[in-house]
Amino acid sequence: MSIDLKNVDYVYDSGEPFEYFALRGISLHIDEGAFVGIVGRTGSGKSTLVEHLNGLLFPTHGDVVVDDEIVSGDRKVLAKVRRRVGIVFQYPEDQFFAETIFEEVAFGCRNYGFGKEQVDDSVHRAMKTVGLDPDRFLSLSPFQLSGGEQRRVAIASIIAMGQKYIVLDEPTAGLDSGSKLAVLAELESLRQTTHVTVILVSHNMDEVAEFCKQVIVLDDGAVAFQGPTDTFFTDAALVDRTGLELPESYRLARALKACGSILTLNEASTERMLESLKLSVSDLGGT
Ligand SMILES: Nc1ncnc2c1ncn2[C@@H]1O[C@H](COP(=O)(O)OP(=O)(O)OP(=O)(O)O)[C@@H](O)[C@H]1O
Ligand SMILES: [Mg+2]
Repeated sequence: MSIDLKNVDYVYDSGEPFEYFALRGISLHIDEGAFVGIVGRTGSGKSTLVEHLNGLLFPTHGDVVVDDEIVSGDRKVLAKVRRRVGIVFQYPEDQFFAETIFEEVAFGCRNYGFGKEQVDDSVHRAMKTVGLDPDRFLSLSPFQLSGGEQRRVAIASIIAMGQKYIVLDEPTAGLDSGSKLAVLAELESLRQTTHVTVILVSHNMDEVAEFCKQVIVLDDGAVAFQGPTDTFFTDAALVDRTGLELPESYRLARALKACGSILTLNEASTERMLESLKLSVSDLGGT
């Protein structure tokens, strides 16, 4: 199963004097179970694109296909698609409305008609997945939490519903780097255990290099690259042309290569690269 976009255009205010082509001829494929990054400079169309994935927006031309279902405004189709694709927005805490975290996380499950036991069970499991102790947090108000904890509650609300495609639009913006990595590591372990698909919109190239095996790069509403993240970041000229920065680990690897290093490096994260450097140095007889 997969999500596919076939030649999708999206025009804001179509037919009006200020109509704006936000997406142009987008064709892409996202496999179920993948961890995919969507990147691109500000205004390149990332949020517009993800809003197509669960029918918040519909293409002006072209088709969005979720598991063989063409997304349309038909009530039954829309319900099916939204059952499969959940989106966590950039500032999800703005949408909190319930008095307790339990009610907040349970809301979607109840909407889907889960029974009481299934709601309890899903809420507890989702809270544990995002690293929040249910016994401590479920009776609190979402507004009593820190920004990082609020972000985790928003992610738990989506996970609890058991959707198979989880889309996160800048979910780590405003979080410190420790909380960022923790949230992404939790999503990665959820992906490994339940085979959910994670689609991450991010401006942070370090986290994209570390967590996303595949990347979709948007430039001015069009796809400039889609494929393995490592292939993209190895093409420094393309990274520059699309207005993005190389992750720290790739910059370090380039600097080492420029110094004539012939070591084999794992560039996906600086931490792992330093590990592989240590190993390579000890292989060469150093310590
Ligand atoms: N409601 C709207 N009406 C008209 N134009 C819009 C609307 N929303 C977005 N746009 C325009 O569409 C383009 C793409 O916007 P979008 O929000 O998808 O970009 P983005 O890649 O998510 O940017 P960012 O990284 O800043 O979040 C931008 O030029 C934006 O100004
Ligand atoms: Mg955006």
